[in-house]
Amino acid sequence: MQYAANSLENHWMPFTTNRDFKSDPRLMVKAQGLYYWNHKGEKLVDASSGLFCCAAGHGRKEILEAVTAQMAEIDYTPHFQTGHPSSFELARMVAKITPDNLDYVFFCNSGSEAVETAIKIALAYHVANGEGQRTRFVSRERAYHGVNMGGVSLSGMMRNREAFGAVMPGVVHLRHTWLPENRFCIGEPATGVELAEDLQRFVDLYGPRSIAACFVEPIAGSTGVLIPPKGYLKRLREICDKHGILLVFDEVICGFGRTGKAFAAQSFGVTPDMITMAKALTNGALPMGAVAVSDKIYNTVVGAAADGAVEFFHGYTYSAHPAACAAGIATLKIYEKEGLFERAAEMSDYFLDRMYALKDIKAVSDIRGYGMLCGIDLAPGVRPGLRGYDATKRLFNRGLHIKFTGDAGICAPALVAEKSHIDEIYQIFREVFSEY
Ligand SMILES: Cc1ncc(COP(=O)(O)O)c(C=O)c1O
Repeated sequence: MQYAANSLENHWMPFTTNRDFKSDPRLMVKAQGLYYWNHKGEKLVDASSGLFCCAAGHGRKEILEAVTAQMAEIDYTPHFQTGHPSSFELARMVAKITPDNLDYVFFCNSGSEAVETAIKIALAYHVANGEGQRTRFVSRERAYHGVNMGGVSLSGMMRNREAFGAVMPGVVHLRHTWLPENRFCIGEPATGVELAEDLQRFVDLYGPRSIAACFVEPIAGSTGVLIPPKGYLKRLREICDKHGILLVFDEVICGFGRTGKAFAAQSFGVTPDMITMAKALTNGALPMGAVAVSDKIYNTVVGAAADGAVEFFHGYTYSAHPAACAAGIATLKIYEKEGLFERAAEMSDYFLDRMYALKDIKAVSDIRGYGMLCGIDLAPGVRPGLRGYDATKRLFNRGLHIKFTGDAGICAPALVAEKSHIDEIYQIFREVFSEY
């Protein structure tokens, strides 16, 4: 089915240069496997899995069929005091692949909502635990935690904050982990573990019992893929444990095989108290987010309420929408049946090898990669971000879709990618980046 776009005027597009876009639109009208087709009928290789969502590739029939069947059966169920079987099944499947004892899953509709939900769970947990004075949050420079006000408060990206006022009080930021000496380092950088001591400094400055939670993306994705230095996440875990601070991994990009295991927590061998997820949970087919929490958190919050009382005053009309649950179940079945997390681990060497082969190009100033995720920095042009935007358009015109943040391209092909797809991506990158 195709809609004629008679006017582009009325849609105020998100994170988009609206005026420029509308003068020369990039409309996608079809997707299959590793490819998009634009409105001119041209084929584009998808180097970013849409927006890091479509890990199993586009156009998966299993998901379509599951959602169609679900919608035919029941279109909507409220999840406040009533339920639907599919949400329980999806929660079971998610809990099965999360680390250790992260056994309880709260559903929402996006990564941003997952972050807001995790902030509120952290606060509710401490209240239930008799430590309601823990209201401070620790995040990190260059972090992206979505666009709602809690997430903006945690945000470490200036452009995502500057127009939105003073936001939530009591949030402090660790330094980011990009260090010049680690340029072009493959995988976890050898230096930088000491940056985790920033958390200890906040403990010393604000008092250990004032901090509710520390939020980090295990690999900072949207900012351009910053891999944690060796031992960094482990050190954060130790400091959190010592001082009763909850550790939250925002795995909205890292989750579902991107790092070669179900979650980055498993790839880096560090178990947080909560994991936020979205995107590849439904292969991008329908909006859905979730927070997986530890047994300790769930039992504390649920156990603290009086009999017959709602335990956690939070939820969305569309939490665990049946269609999204059906998409999630079908997606997780594909991941398991096709062994896509293992496939990502196996393909990673080839993928990173190709990406790092771009190192000789003059305009490429850094490359960082892990699993099936790679950030490629272009040296800024006239002002930061312009070259990245220009590259996005040139790449599009040469048949490649990618997400750039500023001057950093974020390459994350679907986990079903063949070597030939990676070669194709590499070749188009080489041609376009060499033009600068
Ligand atoms: C780590 C992280 N958290 C949260 C979000 C927000 O997700 P959404 O755009 O689904 O609200 C993103 C989106 O890219 C993300 O990368």
